[in-house]
Amino acid sequence: MIIWLQIIIIAIILHYVISEKLRQWRMEGNLQGPTTIPFLGNSLLFFGCEAHDIGHRIMQLQNITKYGRVWRIWIGSHLGVFVADPKSLEIILKSNEVLNKSAVYNAVADFADGIVTSSGEKWRGLRKIVNTIFHNQNIENQVNIINNSSMVLCRLLEEKCDGRIFKIDNFIHECLLDITCKIIASSKTDMQLKENLTFTDDVRLGIHLSSDRCLKVWLHPDFIYEHTTAGKLKNAIVKKILGFSLELIKERRESLKGVKNSITVDGQHEAKPKIFLDHMFDYGREKNLTDLEISKFITDVILAGYDTSSCAISYMLLMLAMYQDIQEQVYEEIYDITGDSNRPVELKDINRMACLDRVIMEVLRHCSVPHVARRVDSPLQLQDKLIPKRSTLYLMLYRLHRDPEYWSHPDSFYPDHFLPENIERRPKYTFLPFVSGPRGCPGQKLSSILMKIIVSTILRQYKVTTTVRPSEVKLSMTMMLEVSGGSQIQLTRR
Ligand code: HEM
Repeated sequence: MIIWLQIIIIAIILHYVISEKLRQWRMEGNLQGPTTIPFLGNSLLFFGCEAHDIGHRIMQLQNITKYGRVWRIWIGSHLGVFVADPKSLEIILKSNEVLNKSAVYNAVADFADGIVTSSGEKWRGLRKIVNTIFHNQNIENQVNIINNSSMVLCRLLEEKCDGRIFKIDNFIHECLLDITCKIIASSKTDMQLKENLTFTDDVRLGIHLSSDRCLKVWLHPDFIYEHTTAGKLKNAIVKKILGFSLELIKERRESLKGVKNSITVDGQHEAKPKIFLDHMFDYGREKNLTDLEISKFITDVILAGYDTSSCAISYMLLMLAMYQDIQEQVYEEIYDITGDSNRPVELKDINRMACLDRVIMEVLRHCSVPHVARRVDSPLQLQDKLIPKRSTLYLMLYRLHRDPEYWSHPDSFYPDHFLPENIERRPKYTFLPFVSGPRGCPGQKLSSILMKIIVSTILRQYKVTTTVRPSEVKLSMTMMLEVSGGSQIQLTRR
């Protein structure tokens, strides 16, 4: 009797799985893609791939143009649809139906599990909070924080000003980490001056180990992974990453205690605007979360804030070092605004940096998030194509930003792509470094301010040069694209 029951249950499951797959296969008939082989689909495209190659392999796949701008691959029984067509991207990004992230983001959930990686009701609740904060942000205060950190950065760079070539990436990562922690958690610690700060390296290792585990299905069960060397290393790294965020939480709780006790002369409590972490405390109270759970929310936003902008700034400095004529134009523009003074950059200066703005946009065209993966929960009509539910949409920003149909110099560094007349000529949805729509990046305005203040502060003090040639620059990927081997530059005092 029990055996018959088991057979019936297995038959029902098999029937469901097979009919579901047949339905998907029938629907994907309208999509072109490489020839599949039974059971494996197109998995061999990833054959021999190490964790650090996956992002690169997906970028290579984006270069395939023979199937058009919307095409498919099968990874085993899972359908992935690559989209680099502006009209289809517009449909996706305006839709409220394709807001959930694909399961690939769960790979980092043991240390980053907040707004960036979440879906459904959890994401909606967090996004409401983030929208309120970014809408009411105290920009003047943020400008002060960014100016102060940029000045500390320039002081630290002094020791590198001896004509020798060096990698600037870590200096920039730590400066951005400092700014992000001060803005979202009101941290009093100066990360750039902290000895033995390993957070940025820990995060990289954490992401590497997570991607490696994703690729190796036999490591998926926790009880196996925890006993492997990689699993033990991952546990230790996760502890270190979350320890960093827990420290921010502890520091803020202490300082809030101080605020409660600080009474002004007229006997009132000082009302300070709430920062992101304060809102997370309220959210945590409402949902009964522990500090450890809150620390995963915080880590998620720290990563979104610091890694993207710091990779872009490192790449920008390398480009300005290689293209001296463009560096001169940017420097002249800054000089026109601030002259010989060493005063901090003000908000009104930022709006006058039009040339630097074009450079930033060209940097983001080359070197930002290469793709975003969204889950399709109900069938989606993309012009003449129907995308079946339970597939993953890969928004191919890397390919979109290099499409010769829209960019006159797709593979060169050419900030004139962003002259007003050229922007006018391009269709909408051809430049999407921050994506757009309800799930687009809320930090877009802040990141532009960040990049302008940091780069202009460096250029006011230093001339940047390099021996690296454009043809030698190769991009690799951890979360963002970045220069393989780092941005190697030289600094000379102006
Ligand atoms: C050059 C700088 C930046 C770039 C290129 C960038 C790009 C992006 C992209 C592509 C996404 C994913 C959107 C999606 O999944 O559809 C995103 C999400 C996000 N970004 Fe940024 N970002 C940058 C800077 C920042 C900064 C400075 C912050 C704030 C501290 C920030 C906070 C976020 C958050 C919280 C999300 C998650 C939004 C959500 O899922 O609802 N970003 N960003």
